[in-house]
Amino acid sequence: MIKGASTIVKPKVDYMRVSVTDLCNLRCVYCMPPDGVRRMSHGEILRYEEIERLVRVASGMGISRVRITGGEPIVRSGVVHLVELLGGIEGITDISLTTNGHLLPGCARSLKSAGVRRVNISLDSLRGDRYRKITRVGSIEGALAGIEAALACDFDEVKVNVVVIRGINDDEVEDFLVFAGERGIVPRFIEFMPVSMRSVPGGDGFIPMDEIRLEMERSHSMEPAGAALGAGPAVYYLLDGGPSMVGLIAPVSRGFCRTCNRLRLTADGKLRPCLMSDEEIDVKGPLRSGASDGEIGVIFRRAIEGKSFTCDFERVSPCGRKMVEIGG
Ligand code: 5AD
Ligand code: SF4
Repeated sequence: MIKGASTIVKPKVDYMRVSVTDLCNLRCVYCMPPDGVRRMSHGEILRYEEIERLVRVASGMGISRVRITGGEPIVRSGVVHLVELLGGIEGITDISLTTNGHLLPGCARSLKSAGVRRVNISLDSLRGDRYRKITRVGSIEGALAGIEAALACDFDEVKVNVVVIRGINDDEVEDFLVFAGERGIVPRFIEFMPVSMRSVPGGDGFIPMDEIRLEMERSHSMEPAGAALGAGPAVYYLLDGGPSMVGLIAPVSRGFCRTCNRLRLTADGKLRPCLMSDEEIDVKGPLRSGASDGEIGVIFRRAIEGKSFTCDFERVSPCGRKMVEIGG
């Protein structure tokens, strides 16, 4: 039988983003409202042993790669211990972390020894004044020190995430290519996603990734790089024949839902099958009221099987949670 063009092949869901805190030491304009978000109480947040159990059950349901996120994951104390716990789970083959870098100098080496293989660092501008404006409170020196600390530890991959916003940082694409090329880092340009706000305060607005690609192509050759890096939706290109690479992430203009391979676990123990949807499945309640691994496994299976692969950023309205509570 010839498969019709409309046949949907559901991707295998093998990747889970685990948010360990909704707190962050920065206040990025596209991620958080200026006055922050309601702080979760200590009891609401999953303990590390609870996260370990959930990831263990999830690994039985096909999850093999885990990314630790926040808020800012390193503001939660003991995150190295969590990595050690997750590293002991058979079936988890890849542990990575997304951070703003500020606290990395104090723990990059321990994170690496505990089993983190790949680190993504958010850096939306190379100019101090702009970096401060975007993050509201951050200093670029802090982020750069984090990047240097990561580079000194020989992680398998260090990537820099740049959310490109018209009128805020769209004139820095070339500067980022130079910065990343000099350090052997892969820069990834990301379209602003209207997850918890429609537009970015202070920016002229959204830029489709094709515009960024065309701009780069004016001064560089860009060949699609065959192998995917990591577990995500980025499309990678070799710059000027390599070895430098650049990643482009176009969730809004290109959509990535048809190939979405991920689940999200919030710090307060909810499974989110889709970034944009308010659908959340409580897993903390059952966990704390004595559910067996089998029963928790059924919850994961339901979340995985119920995933929608056809969302549309144009039509959905911003979801109830702020991005800082979801962890990207
Ligand atoms: N659109 C695109 N990317 C975002 N991130 C956070 N909020 C948004 C948004 N609205 C990115 C950050 C960080 C990762 C956690 O998610 O830049 O790299
Ligand atoms: Fe914090 Fe990252 Fe959100 Fe910025 S984007 S406020 S660093 S969680």
